[in-house]
Amino acid sequence: MKLPYYHYQARDTNLTITITYVYIFICSAFQTDFWNPETITQVKPEMRVDFRVEADKSADVESLLEQSGVEYEILIDNLKMVLDAQFDSNVRATGHNYEKYNNWETIAAWTADIAAQNANLVSRTQIGTTFQGRPIYLLKVGKSGSNKKAIFMDCGFHAREWISPAFCQWFVKEAVSTYGSDTLMTRLLNNLDFYILPVLNIDGYVYTWTSYRMWRKTRSTNSGSSCIGTDPNRNFNAGWCSVGASKKPCDDTYCGSAPESEKETKALADFIRKNLSTIKAYLTIHSYSQMLLFPYSYTYSAPENYAELVKLASLYGTKYTFGSGASTIYLAAGGSDDWAYDQGIKYSFTFELRDTGRYGFALPESQIKPTSEETLKADKYIANYILSYA
Ligand code: ARG
Ligand code: ZN
Repeated sequence: MKLPYYHYQARDTNLTITITYVYIFICSAFQTDFWNPETITQVKPEMRVDFRVEADKSADVESLLEQSGVEYEILIDNLKMVLDAQFDSNVRATGHNYEKYNNWETIAAWTADIAAQNANLVSRTQIGTTFQGRPIYLLKVGKSGSNKKAIFMDCGFHAREWISPAFCQWFVKEAVSTYGSDTLMTRLLNNLDFYILPVLNIDGYVYTWTSYRMWRKTRSTNSGSSCIGTDPNRNFNAGWCSVGASKKPCDDTYCGSAPESEKETKALADFIRKNLSTIKAYLTIHSYSQMLLFPYSYTYSAPENYAELVKLASLYGTKYTFGSGASTIYLAAGGSDDWAYDQGIKYSFTFELRDTGRYGFALPESQIKPTSEETLKADKYIANYILSYA
């Protein structure tokens, strides 16, 4: 890895217009990796912006920010050190562990093991293969029964958001280990099925382990370009590529050559289309910024059950910021949440897990447990609501 990198977090003051120009300038003059939001085009007045530049550019960037009167703070002044510090779990054991970040090989083996060891509750299927040929596994978690409603949850859309797959694994562990003792979990598993997709963008996830920790997109090739990958969360047929997405294959928010151009998004969409009669809720797990977002993100229009979604998002107990994607963060078309909603799944949520920018994507392993516990609470709350009202 070409490290150390510098990571800035700048807060806009009242100089918003100038500041947007400053960011555009920084973005074009220096190689900039936007962390939050994902691209310069999504920078709005008064918005906090996190981005990373290479160490040898940092002095220039800092003086530019200072000249322009932008208030900024260096959150990570040596990313290599923070990335090493991610692995701060006390667990020394090798092999799969719920309080550690597991690589794909370990997660894949875990999907087989957890199903084999809990045959009464968990089964594993394959819904497709990735661009590079890896099997996309799906776990079905629940006591077998007839006419059960289902909740679909996926993790690992964006490769660098490691806390997301960690949470999907945590959820399955909690399901199998508290079934029969936790009243709510028992009721949920008796009456609902959970479809859990532990990692959707497996190729990207593997790439973050082997080559480049900050990779976001898939790893598919693009014709006519040497740049790799499509943003899977800009690749769905929901106002596809109209706003907040890029048509340029080199960009981090590239929407792809067509909706569902990616084998991964196509596999997910095919599965959901096939199971529309049972799936009542769609949950997609991302990081970071601690938010609970619901449709729409491709338009400022409110969905038909907006008031209900607000109520549901506000009552679940964990103190995340919530609201529609467009009004809470930015317009961004082609997301799976909006697509699922327009398929008729009226309870569709994007979770943005911890943190709010201190570590960003480099969240230490010691935060897997608290992050998962608070997210599990929200999930169970939503599932219970589905059971009663959907
Ligand atoms: N940070 C997420 C992303 O950029 C937010 C997703 C919100 N939903 C959406 N349809 N844009 O993918
Ligand atoms: Zn994401």
